[in-house]
Amino acid sequence: VTPMIVAIDGPAGSGKSSVSRRVARALGFGYLDTGAAYRALAWHALQHEIDTSDSVAVLEVAGDFDLGIALDPDDQRVRVGAVDATEAIRTPDVSDAVSGVARVPAMRQAINAMFRTLVQDSGRRGVIVEGRDITTVVFPDAPARILLTAAPEVRAARRAAELSEHDAADIAASMQRRDASDSTVVDFLTAAPGVTIVDSTDLDLDATVEAVLAVVRATD
Ligand code: C5P
Repeated sequence: VTPMIVAIDGPAGSGKSSVSRRVARALGFGYLDTGAAYRALAWHALQHEIDTSDSVAVLEVAGDFDLGIALDPDDQRVRVGAVDATEAIRTPDVSDAVSGVARVPAMRQAINAMFRTLVQDSGRRGVIVEGRDITTVVFPDAPARILLTAAPEVRAARRAAELSEHDAADIAASMQRRDASDSTVVDFLTAAPGVTIVDSTDLDLDATVEAVLAVVRATD
């Protein structure tokens, strides 16, 4: 059976991951964090000490990229080859390298094919798939498609609260760099036709989860 797909896109710090995880739990659905897959690939590239802005080199190291990711909202460990990279993929080095890796078109095509297979073979009733181009490229026909947004200063504050050991100004700057770079590859700041905008600027986590659940419920 093909799982019901709930596609959620949005910029860094929009609350996508926390919201998606909670929505998945509430519905008994699987959860795929596509950003984690891109981060794992960037980590893999850094391990090979390649220049992550060199698309030929990126495609080359992608040849032996073996990603292990469970579509389980309560098990978000990420394995690359034999290594548990769950923590490593969240470091600032990876955050700074990921955009370069993600901008290689052939890389995106390969990784999108992998996402579709993972979802199709998940054996789940439904899957929340979260990223930047899920509503537009990966699953444009998903019955529920949502763009999660929030004001830039709210997003920076949320990110800083998550990674409290780092300087808030550094985080805001790094996030802006990443969004600027990412937005040249995929437009995740405007909703495509048929995509519902959920603006979480003035909503707490519970209220945002409720707003997303309401969109999903409206599809049946
Ligand atoms: O969601 P997160 O911020 O962890 O994503 C990390 C990076 O992965 C993004 O900055 C972007 O470069 C890339 N990405 C992407 N397409 C997606 C998901 C993430 O290009 N669907």
